[in-house]
Amino acid sequence: MILVVGGAGYIGSHLVKELVNIEEVIILDNLSTGFRSLVDSKAILIEGDLGDEAVLNDIFLKYPIKAVMHFAANSLVGESVQDPYKYYENNVASTITLLNTMLKHDVKNFIFSSTAATYGIPNVDIIDEEQPTNPINPYGRSKLMVEQILGDFAHAYGLHYVVLRYFNAAGAHESAEIGESHDPETHLIPIILQHLLGQREKISVFGTDYDTQDGTCIRDYIHVTDLAKAHILALQALLSGKKNTAIYNLGNGKGFSVKDVIDTCEKVTGVKPNIEYADRRPGDPARLVASAKKIYEDLGWKAAIDLDEIIESAWKWHKSQMN
Ligand code: UFG
Repeated sequence: MILVVGGAGYIGSHLVKELVNIEEVIILDNLSTGFRSLVDSKAILIEGDLGDEAVLNDIFLKYPIKAVMHFAANSLVGESVQDPYKYYENNVASTITLLNTMLKHDVKNFIFSSTAATYGIPNVDIIDEEQPTNPINPYGRSKLMVEQILGDFAHAYGLHYVVLRYFNAAGAHESAEIGESHDPETHLIPIILQHLLGQREKISVFGTDYDTQDGTCIRDYIHVTDLAKAHILALQALLSGKKNTAIYNLGNGKGFSVKDVIDTCEKVTGVKPNIEYADRRPGDPARLVASAKKIYEDLGWKAAIDLDEIIESAWKWHKSQMN
């Protein structure tokens, strides 16, 4: 049985949809940013907080948990600058409680959702895991702190872990039963699609003077189902003993500018957008593109879904939410 903390959130729910086909799944989620409606019916949902030791103790006593996958974090860069306590409390302190309780019950396999934000402003066009980590905001720092804690816990307590540093997660499940939903929504692709469905007046492009081909920021968009598949390979590598500790980037290895993404959305949907060119958003690096070579070499994972398909899947899901 696998405990998925944050399994009612966007990325967690897509992982659960794949994982229920091969393992029994129990979800712990406080539903602060997740939704009950995203939870697969084959999984058990316990509503509670990952920082609540009593709830965690009950779960580890009651269920034979082999591994924990941890998706439950706050993940908005801007909010983390305004309210760093929330990020250090939830993303770091609560994670320490989770790890400590796991270890107390002799559960030693852990998969952690980390982020490209740990790299800060990179000096290279394609980022591999050897690049220095210099996060520039509390969100990125909170994730890097946990990565460092995992290293220390592995050394001292024999914890086995895989850290997965996501680039820009996007898209929806092929069934269109679940998709990307945040409140408030700040991510580019859902914002564009909501606009194209008439739910927003316009799209604001944050910054047109970056040192990139068209002046807008470049990101590496990766489909959530590709992310989910990487988690399953990481889990199998831990459970089989193939890997004891590892850190991997998860990306497509291709960069798309904000303008490229808007153009692709127009092509996929056939709807013309109303675009406003606005100032830069604080904290945005010009370019974040992954090398995912290491996980390909170690576990054979490679992203399979390209930007057109990512947007097609997201469009199908967003349209289904209109009914
Ligand atoms: N953008 C716009 N207009 C919008 C929304 C976004 O121009 O209305 C731009 C952003 O400025 C950025 C790009 O679109 O250049 C992508 O922005 P998102 O908010 O969709 O994603 P981010 O790249 O900011 O965030 C991702 C992850 C975070 C992680 C961050 C690291 O979602 O968890 O990368 O920089 F911290």
